[in-house]
Amino acid sequence: MKFDFFKETTPHLIGVDISSSAVKMVELSSLAKGKYRLEAYSMSPLPKDAIVDGNVMNLDMVVDAIKIAWKLLSSREKRSALALPSSAVISKKVIMQAGMREDDMEAQVEGEANQYIPFSLDEVNLDFQIIGPATNSPDEVEVIIAAARKEKIEDRVAAAEGAGLKVSVMDVETYATEAAYTLVASQLPNAGKGQTVMIIDIGAQGMHINVMHDDKSVYTREQTFGGAQLTQEIQRRFGLSAEEAEIAKRKGGLPDSYDAEVLQPFVQCLATEVARALQFFTSSTQYNRVDHLVLAGGCAAISGVDILVQEQAQVNTVVANPFHEMTVSNKIKQQQVSIDAPSLLIACGLAMRGVD
Ligand SMILES: Nc1ncnc2c1ncn2[C@@H]1O[C@H](COP(=O)(O)OP(=O)(O)OP(=O)(O)O)[C@@H](O)[C@H]1O
Ligand SMILES: [Mg+2]
Repeated sequence: MKFDFFKETTPHLIGVDISSSAVKMVELSSLAKGKYRLEAYSMSPLPKDAIVDGNVMNLDMVVDAIKIAWKLLSSREKRSALALPSSAVISKKVIMQAGMREDDMEAQVEGEANQYIPFSLDEVNLDFQIIGPATNSPDEVEVIIAAARKEKIEDRVAAAEGAGLKVSVMDVETYATEAAYTLVASQLPNAGKGQTVMIIDIGAQGMHINVMHDDKSVYTREQTFGGAQLTQEIQRRFGLSAEEAEIAKRKGGLPDSYDAEVLQPFVQCLATEVARALQFFTSSTQYNRVDHLVLAGGCAAISGVDILVQEQAQVNTVVANPFHEMTVSNKIKQQQVSIDAPSLLIACGLAMRGVD
């Protein structure tokens, strides 16, 4: 198996997020249903040309980063769950008759897919899942179909296998975010029940938006905005290399002018981007409000970002911590986990495919 977005769970595995700035890994174990323990996590930075727009551009660089992250994880587990960026996957909800036989369904899925996929079916992998009964029609079900170009899948599998891992699951980043959201929801008042919650994952290159209503994803969108802009500004202002700027950003040590002249303007821009995302959502959907914002991704680790976003958006804002209800292996530093947690949302959602 190389591709099953919707398979429930497989035995223990490592969640591997290959993103634009790093390879991030999470390993969980299950204590009881819905109760997890964080066994280990790791991150290994990627040079900026290794992954571009979600595509593997330099296989060797990606293989090396996976090897390092795996070594840092110090896990004996080889099986892994990877994800494709949502830009590599076309998904569509369709209505089908309820109670169909598996092979009849498959045939119909192929027929549907033929209509909306701009490639030949030989070039794609297809998967589908019944979401539930169709609204107002008891004889029909809502089905989600997902299709991805085979070559996009093969590139990621080659990177993982090149580093010695086995790929058991190929998921989609947005689905992994949704899975991890079940852990983050408990950070919200009344666990977010009956509410509209916008998850905003701000990474290095992209702002990945996913709106949940009652644990169901109702909207996704990508905006180009991320921490790489801040890194570049640090490089320009203080004459640092990309690596130096990246370290300074996380560990400090920049001149006094940094906060007022570089960081605060960036956080202002970030809050404006969030406001824009909210505006797009409310003006293009049936929803006219968002009850909570959940900030994730590396940029959510900037101190005070949640406060500024909340002020500007006038919406209750929290920083995602998928581990907040987990016990954590005593090999892991508690303080560091809470800083890294927001950027591990996808890796955590992937690791959940291996436990329960
Ligand atoms: N403690 C921190 N303070 C400030 N910025 C941080 C911190 N930690 C990470 N970042 C920034 O967050 C970004 C990385 O975040 P993340 O790991 O979510 O990105 P990514 O998943 O690789 O990117 P993308 O999702 O765009 O592919 C980098 O720009 C990094 O400098
Ligand atoms: Mg990311």
